[in-house]
Amino acid sequence: MAALHPKVVPAFPVDRPVVLVGMMGAGKTTVGRRLARALGLAFHDADAEIEQAAGMSVSELFEKHGEASFRQGETKVIARLLSGAPVVLATGGGALTNASTRALVREKAVSIWLRADVDTLVRRATRRPTRPLLKKGDPKETIARLLAERTPYYEEATLTVDSQPGAHGRTVAAILEALESHMKAVRA
Ligand code: S3P
Repeated sequence: MAALHPKVVPAFPVDRPVVLVGMMGAGKTTVGRRLARALGLAFHDADAEIEQAAGMSVSELFEKHGEASFRQGETKVIARLLSGAPVVLATGGGALTNASTRALVREKAVSIWLRADVDTLVRRATRRPTRPLLKKGDPKETIARLLAERTPYYEEATLTVDSQPGAHGRTVAAILEALESHMKAVRA
């Protein structure tokens, strides 16, 4: 049974984890937190969980142990979060590069690709200097390259929703609409 937020009447019932995928800067964490509230589900952010488990920031993890070690932690954390009651989970932009994570998400969750264009992603992802992959080189080139590499994985998501410009509330509303139609269709 899903852990319901005590004061929230869920917009509609969701019986599986809802996983937000997409590039850094797409707004997965902010949107995910609001989406969880609307659905009466707990929210988890994979990066924050990795940081907690490792006792250091994502940047420090990349610096001290390398990206491969970060990816191992990411795979484990996502598997753990998808093994219990339904939650809303915001994944890091590179989570789906791991084949077992892709298989797990496909099997257990409703996934939503929060899609945005390169300029929007660059603008949002460079607001804070916390992303290790953007520390070297031109952020626009890096984001464009990673988006091109990862689009085949993001496209496998159950639903695709465009990250709306401006306030995230509109994006949350668009996700709720798409999710409700999907839930009705799979139950019918
Ligand atoms: C990464 C995205 C980051 C974080 C790490 C690597 C990526 O998460 O997991 O810096 O490979 O795109 P956000 O997508 O939440 O920024």
